[in-house]
Amino acid sequence: MDYSNSNSFPLIFLGSGSYLPQHVIKNIDLPAHLDTSDEWIRTRSGITQRHKSSSEETTSFMATQSLIKALDHAKIKATDLDAIIVATTTADHTFPSTAARVQANVKADKAFVFDIQAACSGFVYAYSMAENMVISGQAKHIAIIGAEHMTKIVDWNDRGTCVLFGDGAGAIIVSSNNQSNVNEKIKATSYLFSDGCGYDKLYVDPTIKTPEEKGAIVMDGKEIFKKAILKMGQAIEVVLEKNNISIEDIDYIIPHQANARIIKGIADRFNLPSEKVIVTVDVHANTSAASIPLALDVSLKNRTLKNNSTVLIVGMGAGITWGASLLRI
Ligand code: ACO
Repeated sequence: MDYSNSNSFPLIFLGSGSYLPQHVIKNIDLPAHLDTSDEWIRTRSGITQRHKSSSEETTSFMATQSLIKALDHAKIKATDLDAIIVATTTADHTFPSTAARVQANVKADKAFVFDIQAACSGFVYAYSMAENMVISGQAKHIAIIGAEHMTKIVDWNDRGTCVLFGDGAGAIIVSSNNQSNVNEKIKATSYLFSDGCGYDKLYVDPTIKTPEEKGAIVMDGKEIFKKAILKMGQAIEVVLEKNNISIEDIDYIIPHQANARIIKGIADRFNLPSEKVIVTVDVHANTSAASIPLALDVSLKNRTLKNNSTVLIVGMGAGITWGASLLRI
């Protein structure tokens, strides 16, 4: 396959958008309430700050704002969308889906909409769904959104987890490659994996009270750290091999933004120079399913990531779940 132009990809990237809450909590703000330090957080995770939603900045609100910007960037109307997929682990309500609220907000009357829950891998899973929906002819224009209100499910008394997470949303608009329904050579680029035996390594415990009484994140940090490097590395290898492409053909890699040391571990494993690895965890912290589209949009708009590039996205999260995909920006 020739991945140096868009003809080999089932999806054409049309545009992106993102939203970050106004309120920023810097590391130096935390020791007033928590037994921690800026130095500890920076050296262990690379994080310097995180955005925290107000009560109005719900998951659906942030998802909607990111979608409005993405539609503007893509120069298409909400009524052109055939589908909206929201990857989130912090939906406003158990049901209906966050995507339903987003659809109503932007009046995407023609679209069918749903949420997908694969924790931090959610955006890669959603991207894979979009590839397959386009290849099958089910949809042409799709909005893929990652949106998270993680700070409502952290225990602000647990210094081992609360310093790591932040809120935000990112959206991309993709369209079918005109050839994709007729050219059998074009296939989905994504590969997904799960191992439910990792269920208790990272989960939300409903008995831990938070201000919103949603339960809070419990994590075996060391185990997740090791698995993240291992599994994301495996996903990258499989995607390269199955798509018959080498790491040198990749212009940028956007890994899930959980921890700068995890990202460095992946970069080292593939000998990737730092300019090929997109990093925003320092200023966004871990925004779970939102982290990849947020990093994509921010780095595209500030020109860290250049157009006409082949990009590999890779994620790993609770479940555990992991996977990777290719896209042409
Ligand atoms: N401030 C100060 N000290 C702290 C803090 C804190 N915020 N948190 C923990 N400590 C202390 C611990 O209590 C421990 O003290 P002790 O030695 O006296 O017992 C010490 O620091 C070391 O703690 P460790 O847990 O061993 O630290 P480690 O080097 O493993 O780093 C971390 C912890 C950052 C959580 C790391 O394990 C990690 O990044 N894991 C990956 C987790 C992750 O990214 N999860 C996100 C979701 S999953 C995903 O997105 C892939």
